[in-house]
Amino acid sequence: MKIPFFKFECSQAEIDQVTSVLESGWLTTAKKASELEAAFKQRCHTDHALAVNSCTAGLHLALEAIGVNAGDKVVVPSLTFTASAEVIRYLGADPVFVDVDESTQLITRAAIEAAVAEYGDIKAVVAVHFGGQSVELVGANGVWDYCKEQGIKLVLDAAHAFPAFDSYGPVGSVGDVTCFSFYANKTMTTGEGGMVVTNDEAIAARIKTMRLHGINRDIWDRFTKANASWEYDVVAPGFKYNMPDVNAAIGLAQLERVDLFREQRQACAEYYLAQLSDIDCIQLPQARVPMAHHSWHLFPIVVKPTAPINRDQLISALNESGVGTSVHYKPLHRMTYYKEKYQLDPASFPVTERYWQGCLSLPIYPGMTTEQLAYVVQVIRANLKP
Ligand SMILES: Cc1ncc(COP(=O)(O)O)c(C=O)c1O
Repeated sequence: MKIPFFKFECSQAEIDQVTSVLESGWLTTAKKASELEAAFKQRCHTDHALAVNSCTAGLHLALEAIGVNAGDKVVVPSLTFTASAEVIRYLGADPVFVDVDESTQLITRAAIEAAVAEYGDIKAVVAVHFGGQSVELVGANGVWDYCKEQGIKLVLDAAHAFPAFDSYGPVGSVGDVTCFSFYANKTMTTGEGGMVVTNDEAIAARIKTMRLHGINRDIWDRFTKANASWEYDVVAPGFKYNMPDVNAAIGLAQLERVDLFREQRQACAEYYLAQLSDIDCIQLPQARVPMAHHSWHLFPIVVKPTAPINRDQLISALNESGVGTSVHYKPLHRMTYYKEKYQLDPASFPVTERYWQGCLSLPIYPGMTTEQLAYVVQVIRANLKP
């Protein structure tokens, strides 16, 4: 049996949506992108949604719009994809890497407090909703409540977390700015793409301008409004981060089924949790939110040192049996650039270290059959509990 790590769900709706854009003759940002933005505002309970061409672009725009400048310090977990931290460097600011919670792999208020105590002035935090569940944002241990109290800006990297929820409502509704990813293997995709949501009018206005060269009007306005003139102004050296309509069209079709996709991934997670729970030498993912509030983008397991084979050997065994896996993540404190530039020592990240040395992510996608899930479980059992 061949089981990929991820499989894109394409229906006739995606094909029809893209065809309609091609037939319209207008391929770049226009009506489809606006429709996708309107849907996200509604789903995330936010005043503003801005479509961009990647989550990385969204994170860059978010940090720029909240005023991160050269020399500023921005807290970010080491256990994340490089995009969460590289955008801090784009602006000449410096990441302050922190460890994560042992059971959820999420950044905590305590870790941010410790960074503030050690480094003093922290301009912002990039918090990652790792795997698809929300960071604890509100309440006594809430990262958002703490950041507001301290005057620290909070950007949420929600690349894994659409749709996801917490006691405060949908992911995206809380924080200064939240950025979603529609990369090819995400919970919904536009091929490449992302969405930025915020309730802050000034931040939204700045992002809107900066995502298109620092021009004070968007392309659609410029070419299509009845009374539009050729004239535009450039108010800043912006970027080229707008989402083309071809991509937005795929997103609109995906959005129709995104809740169904989430339910199907949850069913995969429930199957794995039930069928792997008696294997003592692996650690299964722990949800701090109800199952239905988790987007289940990832299903990461950790092979403990007590296992008969290690993580790399299990990945090879699964691979030889036709099962695709991935590792989320080799932490940033182990990546040459960050390690050398910031003189990072693995001993400063004990939880992340323990986690990453044993972690691998199992296939989880809508349309994965019980037969396929059973096969993955069978290969794991054969290797870890012969
Ligand atoms: C945690 C995290 N942040 C950011 C990104 C970047 O997303 P994009 O590829 O849409 O730029 C990813 C992509 O995998 C991610 O996993």
